[in-house]
Amino acid sequence: MSLGSNPLRDAQDRRLPRIAGPCSLILFGVTGDLARKKLIPAVYDLANRGLLPPGFALVGFARQDFGHQEFKSLIKKAAKEGARTPWRETVWKQLVAGIRFVPGEFDDDAAWERLGATMHELDEQQGTNGNHAFYLSIPPALFPVVVSQLKKHGLATSDNGWRRVVIEKPFGHDLTSARELNEIVGGVFPPESVFRIDHYLGKETVQNILAFRFANGMFEPIWNGNYVDHVQITMAEDIGIGTRAGYYDGIGAARDVIQNHLLQLMALIAMEEPVSFKASSLRIEKQKILANARPAPRLDFHTAHAQYVAGWAGGEKVVGYLEEQGIPKSSNTETYAAVRIDIATRRWAGVPFYLRTGKRLGRRVTEVAVVFKRAPHQPFSKHDVEELGKNALVMRIQPDEGVTLRFGAKVPGTTMEIRDVLMDFAYGGAFVESSPEAYERLILDVLLGDPPLFPQTEEVELAWEILDPVIEHWSRQKTIDTYTSGTWGPASADEMIARDGRAWRRP
Ligand code: BG6
Repeated sequence: MSLGSNPLRDAQDRRLPRIAGPCSLILFGVTGDLARKKLIPAVYDLANRGLLPPGFALVGFARQDFGHQEFKSLIKKAAKEGARTPWRETVWKQLVAGIRFVPGEFDDDAAWERLGATMHELDEQQGTNGNHAFYLSIPPALFPVVVSQLKKHGLATSDNGWRRVVIEKPFGHDLTSARELNEIVGGVFPPESVFRIDHYLGKETVQNILAFRFANGMFEPIWNGNYVDHVQITMAEDIGIGTRAGYYDGIGAARDVIQNHLLQLMALIAMEEPVSFKASSLRIEKQKILANARPAPRLDFHTAHAQYVAGWAGGEKVVGYLEEQGIPKSSNTETYAAVRIDIATRRWAGVPFYLRTGKRLGRRVTEVAVVFKRAPHQPFSKHDVEELGKNALVMRIQPDEGVTLRFGAKVPGTTMEIRDVLMDFAYGGAFVESSPEAYERLILDVLLGDPPLFPQTEEVELAWEILDPVIEHWSRQKTIDTYTSGTWGPASADEMIARDGRAWRRP
């Protein structure tokens, strides 16, 4: 029985777990990296946490012709290797009863008929009740054929039950292609049935930005250009591109990460308080920020992009981007990108937001640092405050989740020497339960039909409007800067921020 239909249950009651109703998740690209490493383990973890109903089904659709047993073993292996929660055979036994495999090519009508028959059979045997979510974990070039086949074979709509489609980024490679893609998907599914995944929004620490800003009274009064000097949003990775040459080359760091994750983080930091946390209210506020955000006017002064060359990562010698497997020697794709964004609103006028991301940097860390202006007057001697930096509030998104406040304190002793100190909140120290993976939360929300954490068409298009001029500017340059693997990026990025009299934080 669903939550809403039991009169004794109150949907607002936090003690009740949010459990999905009977349904299936149909995975396209089930043999891909994302499905193996993230999606299948997330499904197992949800089942293990009791958040999937007994009538849940997982369907794989792929070109390879796996036997039924072979497919089940593949899913079991992926779930076991990637699961966050302990392995329990009883959970697996329940899950396995709803696992199906449909072999076929996307352009083969017979395969889609088989999929339709499988969905029908699941409705009858497994009790999925006509509720099916299609997860497109496939290259975007294949979206048109998949959504049109879903439509052609009458699978995209249903008189009983719901149909939803989940799409993974990249949502296009610029504004024009994003619009085309939105039209294709929008021609088959209504907006409320389209779930675009930005997995950063599924992270607990990212949702905590909203809690931090809007549940507390003490930060709001200083959250504006009167007090904030600038904001730095950093997403650094120590890994290279690994086996993802096919996806990454030609896309690059700005499209891969800034267009989605970092602009979303910026919107959450900058937006006004929403009237509620309903999807529609959140979107209005995020859209206002994205619509008023623009790269700084001098793109040559306030953007930087570069490619990693050979160096060190985790104590091992690593090759440069151009030596990675599958990368053409002439590639100009950036693996590091930094850009200054200005937001034209009363709250943020004059407060630059510096966004940077890169692969093969010093270490894996994502953080948002809100750096405050210095006190307007220092009644201390110059020497007393020599070691005092600007106050900063750092939201540590990962891996060491928490919040740090940096401020000045008197060094014990006979003189009035003031130095920066840190005050720390760590998730691990404050809460006993560990954070679920972003994909657990997002898959559950898809199955529940709960949309606040999924960007809509408008947000995606606004984000491209911000980024398109930057990418166009870079595309006019014949050469690309480099940085040594294991360092914190190119000198041009340091120069970019130094032009404004500031420096990047060392996270
Ligand atoms: C993905 C990018 O969206 O995020 C990858 O396509 C990147 O290039 C990944 O490695 C990082 O995710 P996380 O959750 O490890 O920060």
